[in-house]
Amino acid sequence: MTDTVSRIRPGAPGSIANGHRAEGVEKVTGAARYAYEHPVPDAVYAYPVQAPIASGIIGALDAAEALAMPGVIAVLWGGNTNTFGENFELSLFNRSEVTYRGQLVAAVVADTLENARAAAAAVRVDYTPDAHDVVLRADHPGLYRPEKVNPALPTDFGYGDVAAGLAGAAARVAVTYTTPVQHNNPMEPHAAVASWDDAGVLTVYDSTQGPTADRDTIASVLGLDPEQVRVVSPHVGGGFGSKGTTRPQAILAAIAARAVGRPVKVALTRQQMFTLTGHRTPTIQHLELGAAADGRLSAVAHDVIEHTATRTEFAEQTATCTRVMYGTPAMRTTHRLARLNVPAPSWMRAPGETPGMYALESAMDELAVELGMDPVELRVVNDPAAEPESGLAFSSRHLVACLRAGADRFGWAERDPRPGVRRQGRWLSGTGVAASTYPARRRPSTATAAAVGGGYEVCIAAADIGTGARTVLGELAASVLGVDAARVQVVLGHSALPDAPLAGGSMGTASWGSAVAAACAALLKDGQHGSADTTDDVADDAGWARHSFGAQFAEVLVDQLTGEVRVPRLLGVFAAGRILNPVLARSQFIGGMTMGLSMALFEETAVDAAAGGFVRTDLAQYHVATCADVPSVEAFWIDEVDAHLWPGGGKGIGEIGITGTAAAIGNAVWHATGRRVRDLPITPAKLLG
Ligand code: MOS
Repeated sequence: MTDTVSRIRPGAPGSIANGHRAEGVEKVTGAARYAYEHPVPDAVYAYPVQAPIASGIIGALDAAEALAMPGVIAVLWGGNTNTFGENFELSLFNRSEVTYRGQLVAAVVADTLENARAAAAAVRVDYTPDAHDVVLRADHPGLYRPEKVNPALPTDFGYGDVAAGLAGAAARVAVTYTTPVQHNNPMEPHAAVASWDDAGVLTVYDSTQGPTADRDTIASVLGLDPEQVRVVSPHVGGGFGSKGTTRPQAILAAIAARAVGRPVKVALTRQQMFTLTGHRTPTIQHLELGAAADGRLSAVAHDVIEHTATRTEFAEQTATCTRVMYGTPAMRTTHRLARLNVPAPSWMRAPGETPGMYALESAMDELAVELGMDPVELRVVNDPAAEPESGLAFSSRHLVACLRAGADRFGWAERDPRPGVRRQGRWLSGTGVAASTYPARRRPSTATAAAVGGGYEVCIAAADIGTGARTVLGELAASVLGVDAARVQVVLGHSALPDAPLAGGSMGTASWGSAVAAACAALLKDGQHGSADTTDDVADDAGWARHSFGAQFAEVLVDQLTGEVRVPRLLGVFAAGRILNPVLARSQFIGGMTMGLSMALFEETAVDAAAGGFVRTDLAQYHVATCADVPSVEAFWIDEVDAHLWPGGGKGIGEIGITGTAAAIGNAVWHATGRRVRDLPITPAKLLG
């Protein structure tokens, strides 16, 4: 095990073809086909009709005007579509109640997308509206305790006497942070093309983070056998979790194709994605920290309030990061939910850790100020010997090494701790630090490998959502086979391939890589063919606390006149196990950090209490960080050797980069201005107000 930073060459070429992605040429020449682009002869188009109310009962539907419009083939709704399934999100039209604004209540099928869209506006639906409730409040009368939080973690966890730990503390903070609704907004909007063959087999070209799970969900919702469904998704333009579960476009395309007897294409618009493809719950997080004069924590409490939908529960695990971060003799972590008239919240990059680490790491900064202690040192003195929640030893934990290396690279030693005293013209400048963490897990997977022609073919129903999964799995296979990566072809993105878990939870590479490596090892014995199923291996994974860690440093400038915040520099150092491909890894780290910056300063979906739903639902008004917002984002990593992981040794890198970033920026804004904005995003209005 080494604590030294040695892999510190951002942009250095990777080991395969100078770091080029396996499908890079296809992508930059436009040959790579995304879901909507698959050429399917004779296809027609379906366009959703969405409820304009947030709560109520669906009455009569009048399709006459729509049906008379050019090119219209059918109007589908609950009155003429066979009911199917009991999945409240996906059993489209199979219900008479509206529970959120934007709910899909009907769809028009027409010869062109434009004709379908025009006719959708002409479908008349009667509603009996009911009172709605879309605003999360700390004193919401309906707050309840969910049975578990995502994915199946304890809702509440604690030990020791928190009240006594706080009462006896030399320094204390009791603060509330709030984060807004946020939306994933992947570059490729959700889209699907569905067709049925004469034998009743359904093919769906879908934009999904996992063809195996997508196939199984589509089959289950439609009452089919999984063998009757094929999901094809060779290229996917991002998801951040919004494509980790089957979304309505796939089901709508399938039922519309069955209804009209032709292939059907569905492309959700950016606006529709805001109601039909999930979002991150808003949070109200109360933190109470107590520490002795030397900085050692005496108590930590992290109590979270968030929302869920009325009929579908998604309980985000916002406070679970606090159960692994710092040593303390007393801890309390809780989650409470309010059921609101909103679409079901779901996964968005590092669900739980992202808002949770924003609050915890902001509160740690406030505690450091109370103590008059350097915030790096506060984290160092509270680094636990074992995972606080479980008592398990960490398989490896190099948070302190990340903090030290980051402080060194960033020039932290020269920092003047006083807030609001550095000026560059009309700008105030400041710096901040925060820690990052994310679990390192894997799921069972299968894969096959075969000698084909002069090379090798690896098959697995993995998803490459832009991460470079195809490339890194090819490199891994090549290293096991002892051949050049150029001789290995990775075939993924199809449900007929060996079953594999999602590209999600930063588990893709570890899950798929375990199976690919085992299949290649089996091929070496056999000479021609190898297959693997890692179910047993993964079942043996218990016994260690496995997490990635990181440290992020931000420099900000705040315009005293306008309140504008710029981030001229963001620097992260991560300990995420073995880094398999430095080019791809760097891209994941800086992508996560950029998304964290975006969360800190820009991202917010407005909730309209009167209209009962999300508004300003487009990229003109939901601002996402662009290149001009991130002039310098640097990611480094520690060469972390961890013998308790899967054979490839990587901990997963898709999500750690977003965790902690928003806190580092918020802490820097405080250092620049002396103002502590505890409500994201940190807008000019909040800084000036
Ligand atoms: Mo990610 S939110 O695990 O797809």
